[in-house]
Amino acid sequence: MIKKKVLLLGSSGQMGRHLVRKLTKNNYKVICQTRNSHKSVFLKMYGSIGYIEIVEVNIFDEDKIENLISEVDICINLIGVLYEKNKNNTFKKIHVDFPSKISLLCKKYETEFIHFSALGIEKAVDSDYAKSKLDGEKLIRQNFAKATIIKPSLIFSVSDSLSTKFLTFLNILPGFPLYYNGLTKFMPIHASDVADLTYHIISNEIYSKDIEAVGPEVLTFKEILETLLRLIDKKRFLVPLPTFIAKITSRIFESFPNPLITSDQLRLLKYDNISSRNGLTNYDINCPSKISFEKGVEKYSYNWRDGGQYSVSKKEQS
Ligand SMILES: NC(=O)c1ccc[n+]([C@@H]2O[C@H](COP(=O)([O-])OP(=O)(O)OC[C@H]3O[C@@H](n4cnc5c(N)ncnc54)[C@H](OP(=O)(O)O)[C@@H]3O)[C@@H](O)[C@H]2O)c1
Repeated sequence: MIKKKVLLLGSSGQMGRHLVRKLTKNNYKVICQTRNSHKSVFLKMYGSIGYIEIVEVNIFDEDKIENLISEVDICINLIGVLYEKNKNNTFKKIHVDFPSKISLLCKKYETEFIHFSALGIEKAVDSDYAKSKLDGEKLIRQNFAKATIIKPSLIFSVSDSLSTKFLTFLNILPGFPLYYNGLTKFMPIHASDVADLTYHIISNEIYSKDIEAVGPEVLTFKEILETLLRLIDKKRFLVPLPTFIAKITSRIFESFPNPLITSDQLRLLKYDNISSRNGLTNYDINCPSKISFEKGVEKYSYNWRDGGQYSVSKKEQS
C-alpha cells in the first residue's frame, strides 16, 4: 500500500536514482521530475512497478511545478549545478530563485520540503557556487521554517561526477595536479548513505533542521587521489600546482563542455569541506554513514583497472 507521494525534482542525477530505489522499496510513490523523459526512462529500472511515475516538466514552468507540488505529500529538491552553462542555468536561477519559489509553494500546500544544499559553503565567501547555495538556504528559512535542509560533503557512487571523472583522468594521464598542495579536507559520503539519511528524515518526521551529511572519515584531496590510484593499481605523479598556474589552467578547462575544474571550483577547493563545530550531522540524529570511501569505490573501480571486469587487484593477488 502506498504510504505517501514524493516529488523528486532533479530525479535523473546521482541522488535521484538512489532515492527512487530507497523510497519505492519502502512503499512511497515517487513522481520523478525530469527535463528529458527519454533520457530518464532508465529510472523505471530503479523503482518498483506502480510506485514510480516520470514527468517531463521544465522547472521554470511555474504552473506545472505548482500543480505537481499541490498533489504530493513531500517534495525533495535535488536540482543543482556545479558551473553555470547558459542563461537558464545560472547559480542564481537554480540555487536561489527556484528553491525560494518551491519553498513558498510547499508552505502554501502544506507539503513537506527537503532541500539539498551543500557543506562548507559558509566560509567560501569568494565562490559564486557557495554564495548562491547559501542565499538559497536563507530564503528557504525565511519562507518556510518547517523545511529541512541537507548539506552533504562530497557524494560518491558509480553514478557520480567526481570519483568517476578522477578515475578516468588518473587512468590516462601520467600525473595529476594537487591544488593547494592537496591539503583540503573532505568527509565523502556514499549516495546510498545520503538516501538512507533522507529516508530517515522522512520516516521519523524530522522538520526545520539543517543536517550536515558526512561520511565516516576525513580525507584530504591528496588522500582521495591516493585511494583512487590504489584501487586501480596505478602509479601517477601527484604534482603540487602553484596557485597562479592552477588559476590559468582552470580558466582554460572551463571553456570545455565538461571541465575538470572551473575557476569558481578552484576557489571553493581552498576551503575544508567537513562538518562544522556547531552543526547537526547525520550522526547526531542516529543515522551514521556505513560506507567508507575506499570500500564504496572498490565496488566499481574495476571499470578503470587493466582487464576491466576480469581484472584482479593487487590486493586480491596478495
Ligand atoms: N554530488 C555531490 O558531491 C554534492 C555535494 C554537495 C551538494 N550536492 C547537491 O545535492 C544535490 C543532488 O546532487 P546529485 O549528485 O544528485 O547531482 P546531479 O547528479 O548533478 O543531479 C542534478 C540534477 O539537477 C538537474 N538539473 C540541473 N540543471 C537543471 C535545470 N536547469 N533544469 C532542470 N533540471 C536541472 C539535473 O538534470 P539533468 O540530468 O537533466 O541535467 C539532475 O537531475 C544537488 O543540489 C547538488 O548541488 C551534491
